[in-house]
Amino acid sequence: MNRKRVGILISGRGSNMSALIAAAKAPDYPAEIVGVLSNRAAAPGLAIAAAEGIATASLAQSKFPSRDMFEDVMTQTLESWDVDFVCLAGFMRILGEDFVNHWAGRMINIHPSLLPLYKGLDTHQRALADGATVHGCTVHFVTPGLDEGAPILQAQVPVLAGDTPDTLSARVLVEEHRIYPEALRLLATGKVGAL
Ligand code: GAR
Repeated sequence: MNRKRVGILISGRGSNMSALIAAAKAPDYPAEIVGVLSNRAAAPGLAIAAAEGIATASLAQSKFPSRDMFEDVMTQTLESWDVDFVCLAGFMRILGEDFVNHWAGRMINIHPSLLPLYKGLDTHQRALADGATVHGCTVHFVTPGLDEGAPILQAQVPVLAGDTPDTLSARVLVEEHRIYPEALRLLATGKVGAL
């Protein structure tokens, strides 16, 4: 099988990254994780990836004169790993148009809400404040508009009485870890495309 090469961008814990790495260990999974790049050197996910024998890189935007230059080096790093696809997994920086356009149709993201609801931050808090009875997560293609690209998969969870942002986020996270590997499988096997 010709497995697609995937790079993952993270900023922190990396639990979605770990779910993708775990899925890619199955011999019949159509993608392999070949590199993990973080914009924070202290991201715990970096050490997890390194312990799995995966190439890692850490690039701080503050060390670059401009966002464009930072993102050019991100692209160079991903291209040095010869990736076919890029997965954003808790990468907490808004990406510029040139970077996004460069990877158009080849870059996906996991977002902790049922898009188009609750784009941006604090999704669990906002769902609770609205009295939502259903919440969830979405894997979608990345386009220049924040959290606006075409959805690939979504999963719903109930909002329960007494939920806090933490309890709700934990329930959503279980679904994130389930649908992200499924969505990458669809992308890697050509069953979904952005255009
Ligand atoms: C996840 O819940 C992911 O959906 C969210 O950050 C968390 C990262 O956790 N992403 C966003 O909010 C993107 N806007 P992880 O590092 O354990 O995967």
